[in-house]
Formats: sequence, structure tokens, C-alpha cells
Amino acid sequence: MEPRRREVVGLMAGCLALLLAMRSMVVAMIVAVGVGRPRHLPDRTFRLDFHTKRANLRAMIYSSDTTCFNQIRMYRATFDKLCHMLDTIGGLRATRHMLVDEQVAMFLHILAHHVKNRVIQFEFGRSGETISRYFKLVLNATIRLQSLLLKKPEAILEDSNDHRWKWFKGCLGALDGTHIRVQVLAAHKGRYRNRKGDITTNVLGVCSPDGQFIFVFPEWEGSAADGRVLRDATTRPHGLRVPLGNYYLVDAGYSNCQGFLAPYRGQRYHLNDWRQGHQPQTAHECFNMRHSAARNVIERCFGILKLRWAILRSPSFYPVRLQNRYIVACCLLHNLIRREGVQDPLDEQLESFDIEPATDENMPIVPLETTDVWTNYREQIANEMFADFVAQR
Ligand SMILES: *[C@@H]1O[C@H](CO)[C@@H](O)[C@H](O)[C@H]1NC(C)=O
Repeated sequence: MEPRRREVVGLMAGCLALLLAMRSMVVAMIVAVGVGRPRHLPDRTFRLDFHTKRANLRAMIYSSDTTCFNQIRMYRATFDKLCHMLDTIGGLRATRHMLVDEQVAMFLHILAHHVKNRVIQFEFGRSGETISRYFKLVLNATIRLQSLLLKKPEAILEDSNDHRWKWFKGCLGALDGTHIRVQVLAAHKGRYRNRKGDITTNVLGVCSPDGQFIFVFPEWEGSAADGRVLRDATTRPHGLRVPLGNYYLVDAGYSNCQGFLAPYRGQRYHLNDWRQGHQPQTAHECFNMRHSAARNVIERCFGILKLRWAILRSPSFYPVRLQNRYIVACCLLHNLIRREGVQDPLDEQLESFDIEPATDENMPIVPLETTDVWTNYREQIANEMFADFVAQR
């Protein structure tokens, strides 16, 4: 090669090296920008994506636990766990357009604030069609976590010393119905109108003594009596099963029968009745007082559920079939959050929130079979309680 040619080639190689060096510097700078994040959160949630939408998501979810809780009603660690579960078990996939965490955040934000699709379009910079498609995808993935997130019932043991539950050996928890408002066609309103005149569905919820859902059954219209919903739930395949020797606490809207322990009718019952220092005078009153204190867990469960997810507090924009599915999803998320065991700000808020009053006794009862054995069983518990109460006095 002649000298002049060699010089040119050398110069070109030099330029190329310089360019490569500059490129890696730029890459290093870009990476450095993405590094200002809390160390304890795993990388997955921060996969580098320099799209402006990611910045929005970062501000909403990852900047602090306070904003995260305000936006999606759970803390960052719980959110991250949820994304991980949906990804690995629920089969939710990142797409070219949206990573898993953004899909999940959008879904939770809709449940938490019941915002209209149009508002989400603005907040997340996505089209209406995209939002509703991803909403359904995340919903289905969440429901696939059902067997994992629903609480497995555990009976109260003989030697339990929980002051609320020790009276109820073998008890698995409490159940009740709650009404959730819906929008339906005028032609269907009759079936959905409950006794207070609201258009609702009647959702049966069963929870454990520690306030996690064991079973949720959202399929009935608001006009259905609680007892009827329960009867349907217990006779369906994959419905509610109560093993022999176990039972749930129910209110006076249900009949007292095998597997479901109800209070005595026509007696003092509600917690408020006992707050003014009134002391039980009979075994039945004593039973009702203790029953009410323990059964209250299901009222609290529903109360916190509705406090957390605004979509359950006002008539939904969604069709009933979809609504039934996201009611279940809300309960599953409730369990996940309770399970994390971190202090839940909603526990305190609940005190000032007006829990819907429990079913009154004038509800028509749809009898499941009442048996003498079961009636005597209740009598026996009541007598033991009262004997104990008198002895302690
Ligand atoms: C979600 O599940 C429902 C019921 O199983 C199904 O009809 C629907 O097509 C699913 N939607 C998506 C987006 O996968």
C-alpha cells in the first residue's frame, strides 16, 4: 500500500474509534439517568424504556409509597408482588406497546377511582380501545390467581384464646350479603331493585376471622333475599362447601341450620346495642353479644373493600357480566393486600366510614333445613357462654 493511502485508512479508523467511544458514552449517560431509583425495588419494574409514558408511570407508582397508595390503593412492594404473580402465574404478558406494570397500574387505577375511560386516556396517553382491551386482559389474569389468593378456611381450635372467636370452636368465619350498585337496562331494573329501592347486585361474601375472603359469589340480582343466594351458592358445583363439624356465622337474615350459625331473633343483637354498657341478662342475649362481636368481621371486610375500590361504591359504567368479574378481582386484591400484613391506612378510615347497617330481622327467611340437632347445638353454646359470663362477673 502506498504511504498516502495508508494515511487515509489510518485516519478513517481513528474517526471510527472516536465515534464508537462517543456512542458508548451516550449510552452510559442514558443508563445513568435511569439509575436514580430506590435500590430495594427489583430491576424488572424499571426496564429501561425511555418513552414518556414510562415517566408518567414512574411519577404515579414508583416515586413514593404515598402517591402509589393514593393512585392504586396499595404500596409499591405489594404492587410489585402483584405484577410478578400476574406475569409468572396469571399469564399476563408485556407487549410491544405496554409492559406488565403499566397494564396493571392502569387496571388498579380504574378500580381504585372509578375513573371514566376518557380520563384514563388522558392520564396514560392511551386510546380508549387499548384501555378497555388491557383492562379485560389484566382482569382475566387476576382471576386466574383465584386459587392462590382465596383464603383456605381454618377452623377455630379447641384451645383458641382469641377473645372474639374462642366461643365458636370449629367455626370457619362469617358470611353475609352486600349490595353493589349497577347500571342495567330499564327492562331489567325490577329484578335488580333491592329493598331500599337501589339498583344493585347482591354479592355473597365469606371471610375468615382475620378478614380475608374465602368465597365470593356475585351472580345474584339485588332483589334476591340473602338466604336464597346462599342456598344457590351451596348447591352449585364448585360452590360453597362447609365440612361436617364446621360452620360460618350468619346474621338474622339467614336461618340457623347445619353449617350456618345464626343469632337468636327478637333479642338484642347489634354491637351498638351493647356499647352503652348494657349487660346480657340471659343465655340468648349473651350468645347474641358474642356472636355479633365475631360476625362483625364480614361487615368490616365489605367496608374496607368498598373504601378501597371506588368502582364498588357507585353504579358502574360496565355491563353486569364484567362487573361480576371485577367484584371477584377486587376481593382477591383485598386478600393480597391484607396478606402483606403492612399497616393499612383504610383500617383507621373505616371507623369514620358508615358501614351499611346489617340486615334487619324483618327480612323474609329462605329456609335451608333447620334440624333439632343444630338448634340444640346453638342452645348448648349459648348456655356455656352464659355460665362463663356469670362466673366472670
Ligand atoms: C376473559 O375471560 C372471559 C371469561 O372467561 C372471556 O369470555 C374473555 O374472552 C376473556 N377476555 C380476554 C381479553 O381474554
